[in-house]
Amino acid sequence: MSSLSSSKRMVWLPILALAIQLLSIQNVLCQSQSNAFLYHKCSDIEGSFTSKSTYESNLNNLFSQLSYKVPSTGFATSSTGNTPDNVNGLALCRGDASSSDCSSCLATAIPEISKRCPNNKAGIIWYDNCLVKYSSTNFFGRIDYENRFALYNVNNVSDPTSFNTQTRDLLTELTKTATTGGNQKLFATGEKNIGKKLYGLVQCTRDLRSGSCKACLDGIIGELPNCCDGKEGGRVVGGSCNFRYEIYPFVKTA
Ligand SMILES: *[C@@H]1O[C@H](CO)[C@@H](O)[C@H](O)[C@H]1NC(C)=O
Repeated sequence: MSSLSSSKRMVWLPILALAIQLLSIQNVLCQSQSNAFLYHKCSDIEGSFTSKSTYESNLNNLFSQLSYKVPSTGFATSSTGNTPDNVNGLALCRGDASSSDCSSCLATAIPEISKRCPNNKAGIIWYDNCLVKYSSTNFFGRIDYENRFALYNVNNVSDPTSFNTQTRDLLTELTKTATTGGNQKLFATGEKNIGKKLYGLVQCTRDLRSGSCKACLDGIIGELPNCCDGKEGGRVVGGSCNFRYEIYPFVKTA
């Protein structure tokens, strides 16, 4: 760990939580070159299921369908079982993740969410390379306003006012790219010359229409002053969309 430069130290905060928590995620950064665990949330409001129940078996079927369907395109939804035990879920891989990175991210994320939320009827888990979400409620096509957190680099830029504007401009531009011109992937990356370089990424889950994707991204970009004011890097990550910006290149080019 000692070789890590402080410029890559990040902290995270669940921005919709009542008490804002600030945790160092130094340990995450050991894996940051591969596929870091970011965050998870188990839902209490949808209730719980018991071991060997129909719900459990539907959930396991859902997970195997997602593991099978997602890696080739980077996204899929699936629904299994019948009311009242039906389960709905989706998985999304980062737009620049190869299908083997996607596959291995899911192979990590699915057992991990099962372990962390052993009896919850709904849950969500995020890694650098993928997101897995499931619920007894059919949530497809709707913006997820419940599950959201932020990460930021602890280092401050020297010119926050202009840097904040440039960051917002880049992410707004990328939102336009991701949501217009028939961009099926609802994903865009890019860079901006601001003396040094600024790099950005935006992505939505593909159950959203492009208009909802834009609304989702506009919403989290609006969180910039709360999450990342004058910070060298930051992300707001939700159940339906996310952005990231850094002053170093972080997108895989392959
Ligand atoms: C960045 O600025 C904040 C607020 O002024 C300060 O509390 C913090 O220590 C600074 N971070 C670093 C790494 O210098």
